Amino acid sequence: MLQSTTHQRVLLHNARIITASGPDRGPLQTWDQLGWLANGALIAEQTREGWRTVWLGPVGDVQRPRYDTAVDLGGRLLTPGWIDSHTHAVFAGDRSHEFAQRLTGSSYAEIAAAGGGIVHTVAATRAASQQDLLTQSAARLTEMAAWGVRVVEIKTGYGLDLTTELKTLAVIDALRRQFAGRLTLLATAMPAHAIPREFQGDPDGYVALVCEEILPALARLSVPVPFCDVFVEQGYFSVAQADRIWRAAQKLGMRLKAHVDELSAMGGLQWALAQDAVSVEHLLRTDAAGVAMLAQSQTVAVCLPLTSLFLRESFAPMRSLVDAGARVALATDCNPGSAMTTNLPLAMQIAVLMAGLTPPEALRAVTRTAALAVGEAGGLTGRLAVGERFEATLLDVEHPDALFYELGAPPRGNSRLLDTLFSQNVP
Ligand code: NIG
Ligand code: FE
Repeated sequence: MLQSTTHQRVLLHNARIITASGPDRGPLQTWDQLGWLANGALIAEQTREGWRTVWLGPVGDVQRPRYDTAVDLGGRLLTPGWIDSHTHAVFAGDRSHEFAQRLTGSSYAEIAAAGGGIVHTVAATRAASQQDLLTQSAARLTEMAAWGVRVVEIKTGYGLDLTTELKTLAVIDALRRQFAGRLTLLATAMPAHAIPREFQGDPDGYVALVCEEILPALARLSVPVPFCDVFVEQGYFSVAQADRIWRAAQKLGMRLKAHVDELSAMGGLQWALAQDAVSVEHLLRTDAAGVAMLAQSQTVAVCLPLTSLFLRESFAPMRSLVDAGARVALATDCNPGSAMTTNLPLAMQIAVLMAGLTPPEALRAVTRTAALAVGEAGGLTGRLAVGERFEATLLDVEHPDALFYELGAPPRGNSRLLDTLFSQNVP
């Protein structure tokens, strides 16, 4: 392990590098368009804020004494660190019985209407001790890290009361410490995930609780909460309610994310774009007019192909979104009801096989555009570029095509080497 002195410079060489420093919109046909270096090298420097890339180029151009330590990557693939930009990874219990019900014909909406769905997980999460919630959630993050993921956004939203939303955030904070140097965690406040049972019949009462108590309490904690997310959906939150919640969150310095067009298109997309949301998520029901609006905006379209697969629903119009010029990110949506999975590479594979993205577009969608989907929080850019934060995924493959070929393959991440080298990375 390296000493934690400042200005330590490490050369990574004999690497195949994808920089992801090309355009963040529009179609990509080739790996060259995503910044491909067949025999590359990179020098990272440790600073007080963490590691930065200070040099990047073909191996033949590297000169001493620009580095202190050299590490041979053995021809492996180095990409910007993979970002899972949309997860609900902190929850207790499971809903495998609902999965079985859906396989015999019940829909997600029918199960929720019958008293299952999110509120089922809320009951389990409320009942779980903080330690138990931590243990169950840590297992999921361990899997994510094994897939090569380096950054995970995690939403609250299985508490839906002050105590349990605070417990969820305390767990995220504990996970941040437990995974320091392996994963960067970004917290999103999502008490507006569902109406809890005790407020059935009084949704506006719950919205008031969210605005007046839950969000302010979450914002007061020492763990940063850069985003607020709202599930805009029939039976969950209307546009008017989402707007009230967003006004409160904005005053607390949070940025807007929104679940829209997942089960129905009810104006959430248009509302979120008018608020300059940092991202809109799901988009299964987004039509051509919505695609055109997204293409004109800075807002990132976070697509979740494993949710479509898991729910046996259609896919978000990913191909049209990219062709129209929208920024498209891919994430797992890891949650017990609509996407019980941690497998980000599988999300990339399904986006390619079922929704028409090209492999370079899918890799961009978990690097550069995923960084935009989390507002480039903490200086995260999703690129390997000189002067920017160094955050990378190292893979045991020689060519990025291999990432798509072996469907649902066992972990190919080899980030342990990077963890050891760069364990002082500041989250
Ligand atoms: O992203 N849309 C809302 N939330 C999740 C589902 C959560 C659950 O069913 O537990 C989603 O699909
Ligand atoms: Fe979600």
